[in-house]
Amino acid sequence: MPRYAYVNGRYVPHGDAAVHIEDRGFQFADGVYEVVSIHQGRLVDEAGHLDRLQRSLGELRLDAPMSRRALSLVMRELIRRNRVRNGLIYLQITRGVAPRDFKFPKDTAPTLVMTTRRIAGAASATLSDDDGVSVITIPDIRWKRRDIKTVALLPQALGKQKAADAGAFEAWQVDDDGYVTEGCSSNAWIVTKEGVLVTRPATNDILNGITRQSILAIAEREGYGFEERPFTVAEALDAREAFLTSATTYVKPITRVDGKSIGNGHPGSLSSSLRGHYVTFAESDRAERYVAG
Ligand code: PDD
Repeated sequence: MPRYAYVNGRYVPHGDAAVHIEDRGFQFADGVYEVVSIHQGRLVDEAGHLDRLQRSLGELRLDAPMSRRALSLVMRELIRRNRVRNGLIYLQITRGVAPRDFKFPKDTAPTLVMTTRRIAGAASATLSDDDGVSVITIPDIRWKRRDIKTVALLPQALGKQKAADAGAFEAWQVDDDGYVTEGCSSNAWIVTKEGVLVTRPATNDILNGITRQSILAIAEREGYGFEERPFTVAEALDAREAFLTSATTYVKPITRVDGKSIGNGHPGSLSSSLRGHYVTFAESDRAERYVAG
């Protein structure tokens, strides 16, 4: 079955999909993106992702290539053509093609590309005892506007490679004061000995994850205690549980930080419960269905 990509108004075979070498995304990382999970035929938290996309575009004074409604239709059409039931859709918008000059070009149309990726089977609501992952900690070397979801991801790519080299799943980035900001492609959470969920507040220091926002809403609804405040690596090592959240991983328990066990070394009960609630949400009518029937 052919796989398509969407490039500036056309559905093209994935292998032939291309943008110009003077695209500002290529030359300046002058662009933004979103990753939305597709769960059993539903786009998970689509509205949240489109809201954040709009915000990222605004912060960079980038024009939207089309209306929100049109974007949503194109996303659904690409998913339909690629027959994705479970997986993700990647969407990127850049400031377009122009002769290399740092200043914004005038009257240049933005570039819009979308790709999908299939995964076999929907993410599971339940976790086994061995489902925990390990993270390492690294200095956060990024710029000061981490709230914008830009394609400038070199620090994260370096961090992820360092994690992979160490046999870890993710790298937690740590600010100059010793507080964890977030993972390279996920938000960071702990559960204190007292059972309180802790995650960093959504300032310019982190990307305000859409999954993060849903987990906070679930915690509120379920009456789980939570605090939005920074936490140190030492506090994480002393925590009862730790986990990460993102569109691609949902809620993933962390059982080792820098090689040291967290809690009893297995996924914690609160992490497991939040994952269950999140998958239920992903399967609910609040996550829109893209294919009729
Ligand atoms: N990354 N923090 C960073 C730095 C991220 O790159 C991501 C997501 C998140 C979690 O955000 P959300 O819950 O909205 O996915 C937090 C995506 C998945 C990626 O780059 O592939």
